Amino acid sequence: MNPLLRIEDLRKEFGGIVALEGVSFTVIPNIIKAIIGPNGAGKTTIFNIISGIYSPSKGKIWFKEERIDKLSSHLIAMRGISRTFQNVQIFNNMTVLENVMIGCHPWTRSGFFSCVFKTKGNYKEEKKIYSRAMELLEFVGLADKRSLFPSSLTFQQQRLIEIARALATNPELILLDEPAAGLNARETIKIAELIYRIKEEGISILLVEHDMDLVMDISQEIIVLNSGRVIAEGNPREVQNNEKVIATYLGEKEFVKDKKP
Ligand SMILES: Nc1ncnc2c1ncn2[C@@H]1O[C@H](COP(=O)(O)OP(=O)(O)OP(=O)(O)O)[C@@H](O)[C@H]1O
Ligand SMILES: [Mg+2]
Repeated sequence: MNPLLRIEDLRKEFGGIVALEGVSFTVIPNIIKAIIGPNGAGKTTIFNIISGIYSPSKGKIWFKEERIDKLSSHLIAMRGISRTFQNVQIFNNMTVLENVMIGCHPWTRSGFFSCVFKTKGNYKEEKKIYSRAMELLEFVGLADKRSLFPSSLTFQQQRLIEIARALATNPELILLDEPAAGLNARETIKIAELIYRIKEEGISILLVEHDMDLVMDISQEIIVLNSGRVIAEGNPREVQNNEKVIATYLGEKEFVKDKKP
């Protein structure tokens, strides 16, 4: 099977700091693949490079056999890769619905602003965007909150808005940066179910997460990063038994599989 995403020999420097070195991996279609590693390992930097926010210092990235490492983030989103952010990025002065509608604009002709601000001649597209955004709010379980502003929602619900918006571009690959951070055990299970349902829609998921219960439960493949390098790769069982991984996480309670209250 051809990989959906292929990363080859990625390096990223920030001034004198080498954040990534020799990182290579692939993501096949319709899989949940996790990237784990201690704080500062380079996980978010990988997402920032894949999504075109940073350009790599070295290395190549292919998405569906096409080079994307020199494309703008907008073009990368149009090709079918979307993402969420470690620190939720939503617009607090827009309603839940508008926050999701803003994600729909790459695939419409008239663009987001003409839709939300209702310029003439785009009624059909506006309706299309509205229905798609509503569908996505149903999918993440926020349809009844559509007219509210994000500040009146819980942190978990704000994360769900961001996920719905990321789905709005109809991605084939979605990058989720710590979707369970700050959530309690019950909310984390809900997020796990949602990630699984996203996969069932035929979308591949690249997941960065510190919650090891979540990672081990839902991922088919895991990459372990430490100080910018891949130190292990395999299925959850292989990774949990890998000596380098155990040494990296030694003393870190996050690697111990115990449920939060
Ligand atoms: N824009 C930047 N400018 C300078 N250094 C950066 C920048 N972004 C990341 N870094 C550095 O790159 C390294 C990797 O950071 P990154 O955010 O990718 O880690 P991470 O694995 O996502 O960590 P965490 O689990 O804490 O989110 C760190 O040393 C970080 O300080
Ligand atoms: Mg990070």
